[in-house]
Parts: sequence; structure tokens; C-alpha cells
Amino acid sequence: MRRTLLLFAACALLLAHGAHAKCKADKEGTVNSGCKKCAKDGSKCLECSDRFGLAADGTCVPCTVPGYYGDQCTKCDGDKPDICLTCSAACGRRSCTGLFASEGRCEPCGDSCSDCNAKGACIACGRFTGLINGTCERCVENCYSCREDASKCDECTTGFGLSKDGTCVACSGSEDGGVLSCDAAGKATDCYSGWFLKDGACVKCAEHCSECKDDKTCNSCEMGFGPSKKGAKDCVPCKSANCTSCYDDFSKCTTCDSSFGLVGDACVACEAANCFACDGNAKVCTACTSNDTVSLGTDKATGGCAPCKDANCQSCDDAAVCSYCKDGFGVDEKAGACKACPDKATACTFNATGTFVEICAEGYGPDKAQKECKSCGVEHCNSCDKLGAGFCDIYGCAEGFGYSDKENVCFACTEGCASCTENSCSYCKTGWAFADRTETACTKCVDGDKRPDCEVPTN
Ligand SMILES: *[C@@H]1O[C@H](CO)[C@@H](O)[C@H](O)[C@H]1NC(C)=O
Ligand SMILES: *[C@@H]1O[C@H](CO)[C@@H](O)[C@H](O)[C@H]1NC(C)=O
Ligand SMILES: *[C@@H]1O[C@H](CO)[C@@H](O)[C@H](O)[C@H]1NC(C)=O
Ligand SMILES: *[C@@H]1O[C@H](CO)[C@@H](O)[C@H](O)[C@H]1NC(C)=O
Repeated sequence: MRRTLLLFAACALLLAHGAHAKCKADKEGTVNSGCKKCAKDGSKCLECSDRFGLAADGTCVPCTVPGYYGDQCTKCDGDKPDICLTCSAACGRRSCTGLFASEGRCEPCGDSCSDCNAKGACIACGRFTGLINGTCERCVENCYSCREDASKCDECTTGFGLSKDGTCVACSGSEDGGVLSCDAAGKATDCYSGWFLKDGACVKCAEHCSECKDDKTCNSCEMGFGPSKKGAKDCVPCKSANCTSCYDDFSKCTTCDSSFGLVGDACVACEAANCFACDGNAKVCTACTSNDTVSLGTDKATGGCAPCKDANCQSCDDAAVCSYCKDGFGVDEKAGACKACPDKATACTFNATGTFVEICAEGYGPDKAQKECKSCGVEHCNSCDKLGAGFCDIYGCAEGFGYSDKENVCFACTEGCASCTENSCSYCKTGWAFADRTETACTKCVDGDKRPDCEVPTN
């Protein structure tokens, strides 16, 4: 993410300089000059797009804020583009980490906080916590969210109902596993798939039925089962062996098990060895499995599976087109073959734009243009692939060193600590363990040491 950003930032800079005299605002949804709103006479920019800062000369300059959350800077100082003014939350698949601009960097808001104001005071909390007096406090047990008082729940988790006193009570009958939610009295209000609601309880549908309104008629069957004829309300096993679904009619298969292809309404074993899928025609393999020793791809000539053609290829879908090369080689997108990467690069790509290094050897990272691997340039730094040469990655320091985001240095941890942050040790070196429950200092393990990290695994 950061590298693509830097690259595109470099291009944008060139554009901005080329088109010096006239300000040209970007069309909505595109980023070219980085300007959102130009002055009427076109002499300068008035408002820049996200991730650009407005410079004194009226141009927009791409933000280059260092640090782990540097990418999340949405507005920076155009004359000092490494100084961030506004940050946006960093969201993963399961939760968001709220960020705020502090001393020019993007810093996390605080524990469980998903958004905070410019001063770092929390304004929104994550799951299972509520915003109480500016901090995120854990709600009562089995509560999904609370708003004003940590002891009073607003929304309970699955299988629990909200009682009048704000606690979450287990739904009655939930030991059967059918109740999704219930009212304060524990009576079911919603059921899981395969169950239906009846008189405040969840009752199981007929066997192999996944959706019903009563236990006699089924609206949708489980995988591997279908109605005994189109429109019927029962569930019987799919007629064809090796069939995994037949939702409309048990005699018409729609998907087959792996290494079987759908031919007409039935599943037929794929003919080629090592074939994983051959939908539509059992003779032509569309996806191959690989065994422990050889990577295989489909072979257009035979319809079967063959080893990836390039000797330096690690995996391929089509045997003639490599999708992933061995260390030190990169896919040449035009030829579908593997080519040696530039010096010190362990992974790279060659596409129509040129050569791009992606991962570098220990102590090296891609330069801004991603053209070559350069020394990280930070003492005791082993890895800078994420942020690029010039900055050490947050966990990129050598064992026994921790990374300081603010100063971009690897500093020595306390004795026996393998990895640390500025004020605490994350974990101890082998043969060392935390001295006490504050988990700050590590001490050497001694004979018969009972601390879990000291107990050597015996075979
Ligand atoms: C919030 O803080 C104020 C002032 O510190 C205090 O009087 C109040 O009781 C707190 N409310 C809760 C719910 O803790
Ligand atoms: C395919 O179906 C047959 C007949 O039911 C069964 O014996 C065989 O184990 C199945 N093969 C696979 C790979 O599931
Ligand atoms: C892996 O597949 C290749 C090509 O089909 C075959 O020559 C080789 O014997 C297989 N190895 C194992 C361990 O199955
Ligand atoms: C080539 O790869 C680089 C880096 O991944 C990417 O930024 C660029 O857009 C690619 N060019 C083309 C033509 O795909």
C-alpha cells in the first residue's frame, strides 16, 4: 500500500511541476494533481485531495508521513509533507484502530477505541466496549455494546437477551443451539438456520432442511440434499454420487466434489491425474492439485496437468504461465516466465511499466521508485520492506532492539528482552522469562524454573 502510494506520489509530483502555471482540479474519484478545488483564476489550489498537503505556493504535495501508520495520514503540511495534520482510522477485517495526529505522526487513540478527536480523546469504541466518560470501558458480560454506563447493556451478543436491569441473560432453550436472540424473559425472538420460531422457542426443521416455517415443509435443503422433485417441500440426498449441491431438484446436480466435473446433471470423475476441477467436461482439466515435490498447472495441449514449465517457477495455474517464482526471481508478466531479480531483491515483478522490487534481503528495502534494493540505513535494522529504505519497519529491528517510530531508530531493549516498545518488553529471548506479572523485565531461567517460558520442551 505504502509503496504504491509513494510511487504514484512521485508521478503526481512530476505532473504538478509540469503543469506549474495552471491549477487543474482532479475529477471526482480520480487523483492526478492532488488538487480538489482551484482558485477561480486557476493560479493556485485552494483545497487538496486526501493524502496531499497544500504548500505555500498553492500546489498540492503528496504526504510522506513516516511511521507504522504513516499511510493513514489524510492531510499533511504541504511545505513539510512528513508532518501529518489529520489521520483516518486503520481498519482490518475485524476491527478498526482509531488514529489521531500527534506531533506530526499518526498515533493510535487508545485501547479499544475506534475513533478519537484531535486531542486523542476517544469518541467511538470497538466491540464489547462502551464510551464512558471519554474512555472505552468493557461492558457487562455477554454484551455487544453499551453507551452510557458500562453496567447497562444496549445490545447483547448472540444467544443472550437484554434484561430490564441492563444485563444480558442467556436465552432459554439456547443449550439446543437454535436460539439466536431473545427478549428480557429469555423467550426466543430469532432462530439459527435449520430452526423455526414457535411460541417463544426455536424448533428444529425436518432433517436436512436449512430453512422452514414448520417441521413438515422445507423451503431450502442443506448442502448435498435437494427436493424429491422441483417444487417439493422435502429433502433427499442428491441423486448423483459425488454431488455437493442440488438445491432445486435432487436429480439435477449443480456442483460436484473436487476432482469431479459436472457433465449434464451428474458428476463424473475428472480423467487427468492430479486434476482438482474439470467442470463441464471431464476430459479437460481446469485446475490442478500439486503434490509435495512438483507444482502443476493445466496443460492446454493434453487437457491434463503438467509441471510448471519454468524451472524457477513455484506455482502456476496454467503450466505455461508462472504466477509465483522462487526466491530471487520475479514473474515477467508478458512472457509468463521467471526472470532474475535485481541485486539483493528476493521478490520482484516485471510488467509493462518496468521492474519493481518487492522484498529485499535482510538489511535492505526498496527505494521510493521500487527500482532497486537499498540499505535500510538504520542501525540494527533487519527489515524495511514495508516502509522502504530509509525507515525501519515496526518489527524490523534485530533481536534485542525495538523500533522508535518518532526517531526512526532501533534502540536496545532491556537485558534479556527480544523485542520491545519504548516502555515495555513484548517478549523475552529464549532462556529468559518475564520476572513478574508486570511483564516489563526479563530474567534468566534457572534450573527447575517453573515459569512457563522457561520450561524446555522435552521430546
Ligand atoms: C464521569 O466523570 C464525572 C467527572 O469526573 C463523574 O462525576 C461521573 O460520575 C462520571 N460518570 C461515570 C458514569 O463514570
Ligand atoms: C464418489 O462417490 C462414490 C459412490 O458414492 C464413493 O464410493 C466415492 O468415495 C466418492 N469419491 C469421492 C472422492 O468422494
Ligand atoms: C508428483 O507429480 C509428478 C507429476 O505428475 C510425478 O511425476 C511425481 O511422481 C509425483 N510425486 C509424488 C510424491 O506424488
Ligand atoms: C507494474 O507494477 C507496479 C508495482 O506493482 C504497478 O504500480 C504498476 O501499475 C504496474 N504496471 C502495469 C502496467 O500493470
